[in-house]
Amino acid sequence: MKNKVCKLFGIQFPIVQGGMVWVSGAKLAAAVSNAGGLGLIGAGSMKPELLRQHIRKARALTTRPFGVNIPIFSKYAGEQVNLAVEEGISIFFMSAGSPKRFTPILKEAGCTVVHVASSPTLARKCQDAGVDGVVVEGFEAGGHNGREELTTFVLVPQARDSVDIPLIAAGGIADGRGIAAAFALGAEGVQIGTRFAATVESSASDAYKKLLVSSGDSATRLMLKSLIPVRLVQNSLTEKLQELEARCATAAELEAELGAGAARRAIFDGEVDAGEVEAGEIAGMIHDIPTTAELMKRLVSEASQILSGVALQGTFKNENGFS
Ligand SMILES: Cc1cc2nc3c(=O)[nH]c(=O)nc-3n(C[C@H](O)[C@H](O)[C@H](O)COP(=O)(O)O)c2cc1C
Repeated sequence: MKNKVCKLFGIQFPIVQGGMVWVSGAKLAAAVSNAGGLGLIGAGSMKPELLRQHIRKARALTTRPFGVNIPIFSKYAGEQVNLAVEEGISIFFMSAGSPKRFTPILKEAGCTVVHVASSPTLARKCQDAGVDGVVVEGFEAGGHNGREELTTFVLVPQARDSVDIPLIAAGGIADGRGIAAAFALGAEGVQIGTRFAATVESSASDAYKKLLVSSGDSATRLMLKSLIPVRLVQNSLTEKLQELEARCATAAELEAELGAGAARRAIFDGEVDAGEVEAGEIAGMIHDIPTTAELMKRLVSEASQILSGVALQGTFKNENGFS
C-alpha cells in the first residue's frame, strides 16, 4: 500500500469518488473500486431500503472495498447508518452535520469513519471527535457547500497544519494536475465529484452529463446562502432564485420556488433548464463522458507523470544561492 489513504481503505490509488445524490449508485461506486479507487454510494437521495439494494448490488459488482456517504441532515441518517452497518459496510463518509453525532457509534461498530469539513477548524473538530480521516472540501465543489467560502487552495494547507490524520482534498479536482496540486498542498488523497458525475456509469441523466460537457468555464454559482449553500449550474431556476435573494426573500419563499425534488428533476430526470443542477466549478474542464475505468487510468497516469517531477524538474533549482 502506497500511502496513508490507500492503507486506511485498502485501495490501490488514493482517489475517492465522492458520494453524490442521484449520481453515485452501486454501478458508479463499484466501477471506481474496481479501477483501484474508493467508490462511495451516495445515500443522500435514497430511502433506507433503496440503500440496502444498492449496497447488495455493489457487493455483487465488486470484491474490492467501497463505502457509503451519509449526509447527517437527512431524516433517514440514523436508519441508514444502522442498516449499512447491518449490511457489513465498514467505510463511512459522513457529511453535512456534526462529527460527534455518529462517530462514536460507528467506531464502536469497528468501522472506518471519515467526515467532510469545509474549514480547518471543523477538520480539527472532526479529528477531536475521533474520525479516521477527513475530507476538506473547497467551495469550488459541486453540491452543498460550507458557509466559509474557503477555496481548496487555501483550505488544504491550513487543514494540513491543523490535523495529523489522513487528509483528503476535494473541490475543483478533475485531472492529474489537480491531484498533483492537492498533494503539493499537503493532502494524501483526493475526493472527486463532478468529474465522476459525467462518466458512463454515473446514474445521472444523459441531459445532465451533456450539460456538463457543454457548460463552459463559468457556468456555476453558489446559491441559496441563506438556506444551505449549494453550487449550481445557472439556468432559469437560478435566475429566479437570484431575483428572490436580491430582494431578501424569506426561507419559505426560496423553498417554495425550489419546490420538492428539484435536484432529482435536474440530475436524474434530466430537466436541466429548470431543476437544481448541482455541479462544481470544474464543470468547465469536462469535455467528454468516459467510462470510469478510462477516467481512472487518465487520472492516475497524469498524476504520476506530474508528481514524478518530469514537468517541473530543475525549475526551482537553487542556482542563485538563496538560503
Ligand atoms: C451532483 C452532486 C451531488 C452531490 N451530492 C453529495 C452528497 O449527497 N453528499 C456529499 O457529502 N457530497 C455531495 N456532493 C459533493 C461531492 O461528494 C464532492 O465532495 C464534490 O463534488 C467535490 O468537488 P468537485 O465537484 O469539484 O469534484 C455532491 C456533488 C455533486 C456534483
